[in-house]
Amino acid sequence: MPKPKSKKNSEILAAFWARFIDWEARWEGPTGRFILEQLRGHNCRKVFDAALGDGCDTINLLRTGEFDVRANEIDEAWREKAMETAAAENHPLDGKVTDHKWQLDNFPELVGNGFDCVLCLGNSLTYLENESDRLKALQNFRELLRPGGILLIDERNYQPLLDKRKEVNKQKMPNSHVKDRFKFKYSGEYVYCGKEVHGFPCLSQQRYRIQIPR
Ligand SMILES: C[S@@+](CC[C@H](N)C(=O)[O-])C[C@H]1O[C@@H](n2cnc3c(N)ncnc32)[C@H](O)[C@@H]1O
Repeated sequence: MPKPKSKKNSEILAAFWARFIDWEARWEGPTGRFILEQLRGHNCRKVFDAALGDGCDTINLLRTGEFDVRANEIDEAWREKAMETAAAENHPLDGKVTDHKWQLDNFPELVGNGFDCVLCLGNSLTYLENESDRLKALQNFRELLRPGGILLIDERNYQPLLDKRKEVNKQKMPNSHVKDRFKFKYSGEYVYCGKEVHGFPCLSQQRYRIQIPR
């Protein structure tokens, strides 16, 4: 997952994100149903959204009136967009900014706060490109959770992309009808549900292998 290169780049991403994910379709479809089922099934009320983005999940949870949600977003442009939307709907959104590893030293009031659930959706953990950083982030998430609390992460299945990387890397960017012409396809039913804006890989690399001990 590339990091935004500039403030402008973040602003552009934050502005079109809703058309890529389609808030309603994400929350009325299997993704929203799954999240609600998990939260209700585990008696969750206090939720920490670790990667707020444009606010889709946090605001949809606040709309139900069932959850007390706090959120975190590292990028100002995304955070502002989410806070604006929340304010327009009169939702009290407490948006924090932590560092790249979700280090919580600057926010001692969050640690041990007994969140029932931490959400890290939209492939956000992969912003951390090395394994020890991801592990540190996961430890930080654990610090936030009450015993028995749940962590919901969604992460792209990269293996099929890596398996087809020769084709992916040869693929030229199509001018139109991306979804029909590009070899990489996704259903549009989970997480990224937009009908007008589609994502696709420009370059696929396998830079390391994971050794699984026998
Ligand atoms: C691909 S977007 C996903 C946003 C949202 N969770 C969703 O599913 O629509 C990834 C978001 O994670 C944020 N992010 C990445 N690393 C972060 C960190 N360490 N702390 C907080 N936010 C982070 C990015 O700025 C971006 O807004």
